[in-house]
Amino acid sequence: MISIEHLNKTFNTARGTAHPALVDIDLDIPEGQFVSILGPSGCGKSTLLYIVGGFEQPTQGAVKVNGKLITQPGPDRGPVFQEYALFPWKTVLGNVAYGLREQGVPKAQAQARALSWLQKVKLEKYAGFYPRELSGGMRQRAAIARTLAYEPSILLMDEPFGALDAHTRLVLQAELLALWEQLRNTVLFVTHAVDEAVYLSDRVVVLTGSPGSVREVIDIDLPRPRVRAELLLNRNYQNYVVHLENLLTEKEQA
Ligand SMILES: Nc1ncnc2c1ncn2[C@@H]1O[C@H](COP(=O)(O)OP(=O)(O)O)[C@@H](O)[C@H]1O
Ligand SMILES: [Mg+2]
Repeated sequence: MISIEHLNKTFNTARGTAHPALVDIDLDIPEGQFVSILGPSGCGKSTLLYIVGGFEQPTQGAVKVNGKLITQPGPDRGPVFQEYALFPWKTVLGNVAYGLREQGVPKAQAQARALSWLQKVKLEKYAGFYPRELSGGMRQRAAIARTLAYEPSILLMDEPFGALDAHTRLVLQAELLALWEQLRNTVLFVTHAVDEAVYLSDRVVVLTGSPGSVREVIDIDLPRPRVRAELLLNRNYQNYVVHLENLLTEKEQA
């Protein structure tokens, strides 16, 4: 569904030098898969996601969605980034309804649909709150609801739980999985956390190096629905985690 072909990205820095961020990325992501891009800080994960989102242009190569070349953002690809991209002057309901209103959905209908998404992320009681009145986890739930509300077929998540405390992070991971098991849209999920990648994904793409390139692609063959507390005792889960940890540290030591 998403095909990333011979993708290269080189930034021109403020100093006039060329800074390669991604080299020769080739990836095919089938429809309905949950795919994580795993790698250390600075390996180009965000850059790759922004190019798929159409927010950045590749230097060489292409991203295609169902055969169509991506050149700009579109409602088929919904971003959820680490910085809570909520409008501070809008209520939670207003934020979630925003994308629908932009698409021309009448106000009452947009609000009703927004409210049903808030129920799905357990925020219906906070519909009238402003972002500053929410905890970090709640804000990120609102951001997820806002993107899901316009029903993108692809969800682009850039370390969406990276700024949360450890407990909230686990809660939101489980909630995201429960939601995704109903929606089954295609997810591209950027993370530097091995356990998060294994727990959530059908497939993990390990990006290493600077500039970033694909080190390995691993299919995570663990049954769903997944319960983290059970997985921690699962030999296969443990093996995936150890293998990925080794891949990441091997490169750091080199
Ligand atoms: N706008 C930019 N201009 C110049 N260099 C950039 C820009 N954005 C990212 N980079 C560089 O590209 C590399 C990859 O960055 P990024 O995609 O943010 O990595 P990650 O998300 O994996 O931490 C880094 O070396 C970073 O400094
Ligand atoms: Mg990043």
